[in-house]
Amino acid sequence: MSATPSNPSRWQFFRTFLRDGKIASVVPTSPRAVVQVCRPLDFSRPLNVVELGPGNGAFTRYLLSQMTADSRVLAVDLNPTFVATLNAWHDPRLTVVQDSAEHLSELLSARGFPPADAAISGIPFSFFPGHRQEAIMRQVAAALKPGGVFIVYQFSPQVGAHLRVVFPRVVARRVWPNLPPLSVYEATR
Ligand SMILES: C[S@@+](CC[C@H](N)C(=O)[O-])C[C@H]1O[C@@H](n2cnc3c(N)ncnc32)[C@H](O)[C@@H]1O
Repeated sequence: MSATPSNPSRWQFFRTFLRDGKIASVVPTSPRAVVQVCRPLDFSRPLNVVELGPGNGAFTRYLLSQMTADSRVLAVDLNPTFVATLNAWHDPRLTVVQDSAEHLSELLSARGFPPADAAISGIPFSFFPGHRQEAIMRQVAAALKPGGVFIVYQFSPQVGAHLRVVFPRVVARRVWPNLPPLSVYEATR
């Protein structure tokens, strides 16, 4: 039986931000922005989704609320407080791993996660040098089915140039109902 995930706590997020220099945001992404960022996803069919940097679940919660019963999410975050929060939901569709997105290929193959329809990332790519950003992106590309989409939301637009090195097609857009507004990229394999 899964616990119904509540709205992500802004206070928990802020406290965790104060303790952890890799969070990169003081509050979770706004619910309206989450819906707009997830626009490319077709929830009417089963989806296998990889989520990088779920934090305390702003996107995870929305994904689980929209997905079919046979969909799956594998979420990877470095922060133990956030990982514990998501694990407390006990949703059988959700696997949460405390690790770095830099180890994505090993994490997926160790768990037998199927080729993904989509990946979605809020990790702060700008904290990494370019070659490490592209190494993560290559692992995401390898995890996706042909035609699968990698959705990246960031405050900084610098990630677009690196996505274009790895993915043949990248479309950029802005999502405004968030403070600050988000740069969103849809990279297709
Ligand atoms: C800007 S927050 C986004 C949180 C949440 N997705 C949201 O939109 O509210 C970035 C998240 O990425 C995580 N993170 C940072 N570096 C990471 C890495 N190398 N691997 C996995 N997660 C990472 C942080 O712990 C944090 O939870």
